[in-house]
Amino acid sequence: MTLWGGRFEEGPGRVLWDYTTDHSDRRLLDDDVTGSMAHVAMLGETGILQDAEVKTLLGGLEAIRIEAEAGSFEFFETDEDVHSTVERRLFELVGDVAGKLHTARSRNDQIALDMRLYTRRAASDRITQLHGFAVAVADLAQEHASTIVPSLTHLQQAQATTLGHHLMAYAWMALRDAERFSAARTRIDVSPLGAGASAGTSLPIDPDETARRLDMGSAFENSLDAVGSRDHLAEYVFCCAQAMANLSRLAEEIILWVTPEFGRARLRDSVSTGSSALPQKRNPDIAELARGRAARVFGLLTSIMALQKALPLAYNRDLQEDKRLVFEADDTLAGTLSAMTELLDHTEFFEVTPSVETASLDLAEALVARGVPFREAHEAVGKLVLSLEAEDRTLLDAGPGDLTGAHSAFIEADLELIDAGGSVKRRISPGGGSPDSVHAQAAELRRRIADVGGPPTPPTS
Ligand code: ARG
Repeated sequence: MTLWGGRFEEGPGRVLWDYTTDHSDRRLLDDDVTGSMAHVAMLGETGILQDAEVKTLLGGLEAIRIEAEAGSFEFFETDEDVHSTVERRLFELVGDVAGKLHTARSRNDQIALDMRLYTRRAASDRITQLHGFAVAVADLAQEHASTIVPSLTHLQQAQATTLGHHLMAYAWMALRDAERFSAARTRIDVSPLGAGASAGTSLPIDPDETARRLDMGSAFENSLDAVGSRDHLAEYVFCCAQAMANLSRLAEEIILWVTPEFGRARLRDSVSTGSSALPQKRNPDIAELARGRAARVFGLLTSIMALQKALPLAYNRDLQEDKRLVFEADDTLAGTLSAMTELLDHTEFFEVTPSVETASLDLAEALVARGVPFREAHEAVGKLVLSLEAEDRTLLDAGPGDLTGAHSAFIEADLELIDAGGSVKRRISPGGGSPDSVHAQAAELRRRIADVGGPPTPPTS
């Protein structure tokens, strides 16, 4: 069924139908019914519809909702879109009064609303998922609060740190990803219903009342903007893309860590795949696909940006394409979050002794603590490493004479700084890599999640 037969003498051609209909909007059925119910109620409040009409229409819409929930709602190939589907079924259920549903409304403001309702809910789901992920990572970080690993800069060993500290970095990223969805949700939470096809209506509607009934933050301010803008959806896809970028970085690290060259982790069988050709292989496919799917979501972000460019106000059918872009980005992030949570839960992590040279900064800071300017201390330790290297020795072989030879402010006890475990414990600066810092960070993360109504998250230790 189409909603626009009047001025046509012939029905739509096959090519037009196949090219222009997109059944991906079927997943908006429930939101379409919700929006329609609020609209009908507002039409009743404003006296545009009679109470009896409102009652009949709401009864029919409720029946559609029940059919949808029960899985018995039938979509017809001949329904142009989800809006036509609802109206067709409403006619079947309540008769001609169904023709009043579309009073003071257009599919243009209707689809804009449906996508806002959908993404408002999806944003909340993603926030919950990201909080769950952040907490799972924090749990793991606390388990490994004292597991020594080297931190890297330029992929070269930098300082000794803890695996817990490294993992907490990803927990913080996930928390920010959740915050980003929450900020996007405030801009999504605006009702466009009442904008009509483009420039409003002569009927005495009350868009604020509709927004109130939908529990939305506010109603639109400008009808052309309400039906023609998709920046809130582009922002939603960006939220997905940035979260995918962060997950992809973690995926990349896991891919590296499980190699014998890194030797920092091992995947359990349930999250490893084999090779049809190479019997010895244990491949990290979840992580590789997370990395690969991040690329897809970045493409979707580019698409939704391009979709808006050069589009004259207000609604254009191009905007129909927003649905598939948003759904795919959101579905991909949802699936990746679940898979990466499972992957982390089935990964064994190992301690890795950092190279002894990572103690260089600790040695330099010992001098700084005695009043030596940092530049001078840096130079002295650099020279020490260089001269040891020239003699085919490392800091491990250094004796008191080597230290005092490099700088007169060194004392023999400074040799103890060369131990990675001791070095990590001394890293007491706020947000640094010490075991205490890992526990403090995890507690703070949990507190912030609880503050925004996230799941209760008792610390593991
Ligand atoms: N399927 C359309 C979309 O997704 C619904 C709005 C259609 N409006 C129109 N004037 N043809 O954007």
